[in-house]
Amino acid sequence: AQAEKGGYKHFMLKEINEQPRAIADTISGNLQWFESGKVEGIEPEEVERITVVACGTSYHAGLIGKFLFENLAKIPTEVDYASEFRYRDPIVKNRDLVISITQSGETADTLAAMRLAKERGAKVLTICNVIGSTATREADTVIYTYAGPEISVASTKAFTTQLTVLLLLALCFGRRRGKLGQREFDSLFKELMSIPSKAEAFLNREKEEERVKEIALKLYRAKNALYLGRHVNYPIALEGALKLKEISYIHAEGYPAGEMKHGPIALIDETVPAVFLATKSPVYEKVLSNIEEVKARKGRVVAVVNPGDSAVSKLADFKIEVPETHPLLSPVLNVIPLQLLAYYIADFLGYDVDQPRNLAKSVTVE
Ligand code: G6P
Repeated sequence: AQAEKGGYKHFMLKEINEQPRAIADTISGNLQWFESGKVEGIEPEEVERITVVACGTSYHAGLIGKFLFENLAKIPTEVDYASEFRYRDPIVKNRDLVISITQSGETADTLAAMRLAKERGAKVLTICNVIGSTATREADTVIYTYAGPEISVASTKAFTTQLTVLLLLALCFGRRRGKLGQREFDSLFKELMSIPSKAEAFLNREKEEERVKEIALKLYRAKNALYLGRHVNYPIALEGALKLKEISYIHAEGYPAGEMKHGPIALIDETVPAVFLATKSPVYEKVLSNIEEVKARKGRVVAVVNPGDSAVSKLADFKIEVPETHPLLSPVLNVIPLQLLAYYIADFLGYDVDQPRNLAKSVTVE
């Protein structure tokens, strides 16, 4: 098993480090349809609404997908937990596109949601990592992520490759629907192409990894943690909190930073760390004032920022620098330090990182 881990202590750490390659493979593996501007079986001009159904980490990818489809392609998008969709008698119309996101292609709730959507007349596209899985056999259209096998129960490279596919799809739909000019399209695609090397640069900077370890060492005794972000990085706050819960058993909550004042701020004191996503974006100033609110209540702040940042860095107790990219693409890079933070905290606590208690890699029963 040690050989399979490629020298890493756990599969999770190996898979975190495989992300640059996994993202690059996912771009190149999908270039054919992307360059032709056509997704088999789908007429983007005719899609009136997208509904994403998924579970767990894949659901968080869907939440980011909503921003991408609405921003780049102007298609109204809903995102539902598959387990909720299937029991809420959803309104599905025949010009709806239902997108299921599933690493394994075998999650029972996601498959049931897909079947219901099909029964009600929607087209079903699946974004999946496993060739020949049930989801890929049942969907009308399949788009693969090329993450390679993911062994760790806590999902990492499947997530960032799902985001990659969602970006490709949103760019393609935006172009076809005439909602995205050539220049914006070209510049976003070029930026997407640079993500693997930016992720690689972050992961190869030993200093930054040491930094994450240092922060983990300061935080691993916490009983509760808050993860806060806004806009596309709100789902990254959810995903960061999920990673921590899954493998370290520390209670963590992800929240939109602007909603903090309606509840979570009551929890803040010196024992509850708050992890903020504070990279460059149109909501940067807003996040900055949310950080001030936490500092005013003696909370310890960990901030994910871009190089050259000064305002947030001055306030934060700890900062982690990730390379800068277009705000819509920032989730792909910003999630990586949160994966590492959860990993090192769980490892310091001595837990079995790859096989957390009570969780399964793929939940094939309801
Ligand atoms: C389980 C796994 C998660 C995963 C979720 C959805 O809960 O532990 O890591 O995100 O299932 O799995 P899927 O294969 O449908 O993406």
